[in-house]
Amino acid sequence: MDISRTQTAQLVGHRSRVNFTRFEAGARTMEEEVLAGLRSSPKRIPSKYLYDAEGSRLFDRICDLPDYYPTRTETAILKEHARTILDLIGPDLCIIEPGAGACGKGRLLLETRRASAFVPLDISTDFLQGAALDVADNFPHVSVHAVAMDFLTGLDSLKPLLPPAAKRLIFYAGSSIGNFDPPDAASLLGRFHALLDEGDGLLIGYDLQKDRDALTRAYDDSEGVTASFNLNLLARFNRELGADFDLSRFRHVAVYNEAKSRIEMHLESIAAQRVRVGKESVAFDAFERMHTESSYKYTVEGFDAMAAASGFRRLEVWMDPASYFAVGLYVKDGAGGSPSLLTGHGMKSVKALTVASGGRQA
Ligand code: TRP
Repeated sequence: MDISRTQTAQLVGHRSRVNFTRFEAGARTMEEEVLAGLRSSPKRIPSKYLYDAEGSRLFDRICDLPDYYPTRTETAILKEHARTILDLIGPDLCIIEPGAGACGKGRLLLETRRASAFVPLDISTDFLQGAALDVADNFPHVSVHAVAMDFLTGLDSLKPLLPPAAKRLIFYAGSSIGNFDPPDAASLLGRFHALLDEGDGLLIGYDLQKDRDALTRAYDDSEGVTASFNLNLLARFNRELGADFDLSRFRHVAVYNEAKSRIEMHLESIAAQRVRVGKESVAFDAFERMHTESSYKYTVEGFDAMAAASGFRRLEVWMDPASYFAVGLYVKDGAGGSPSLLTGHGMKSVKALTVASGGRQA
């Protein structure tokens, strides 16, 4: 992950209580990034390209699938505990939601009326603008500042734009943290930490280790929506890079890598073939795979340790009865959150609470 690129902010519009800022991406184009991934061995594709307008729509459908348990399980946890969660951080919150998409989960928090400001961030501009306007219409007490950005590279530029509020809460939902390899996940938590002041919070949803069958069903659903979502990457490159991928000659593959506690998503070439991507012709062997995404599965202890190393102390964690999914609330500790102060006996242990819905049978 390249976090050094600079981006420029542009206020693209506002109406009362709603602002939009778009951060222009840096010099490295999609074509360069995609070709770099296709030249590497094994081949890979940066997963952020999954989320164009079509990909964002498909991902929304994934979230509603019976086979995909994370969204409804996390939603049930949030519905039941939103008030408690926000009261632990304090009144008058500015809620910052990276990867907000349709802002569905952000709304669950706003309904508690504990927040005066909402800052949804998403890489997909069109999707974000509509959602932000809708949030502003529905929550007249909240000022909304939507920021279209690749938050992996632009987070540092965000601080001056944040609306004033007594406390900040970063809300990172959907097990998106699981889509990073652990060192990158830790570094993202570190950048979240830098955006916060002492006493501010991080509310984060992550997926828990469980049996292989449930996991593979969630990432290779019986309706084929996840396959379409993954294959949309190739359709997007055809649309935007003038590539000539034949979508019928690639297939979606999801495998659980138990040693690494992660689901891996791949696109597999069903035959030896060459594909034009921009200025290059890329060769695929039969059954060769491109890695498009990983989704790491954690234990509560493992996640707490990673958060502690980034300067976060856990206040509480909530899970569904089947322990499929966890939502952890962390606080940025004093002394700049020196990691060494936060491990061991410095950590307050709080027993996990459960909610009544979500889980295995659903
Ligand atoms: N954050 C989601 C997850 O890890 C992303 C996701 C769900 C995803 N299904 C996918 C990414 C399929 C790529 C392909 O659960």
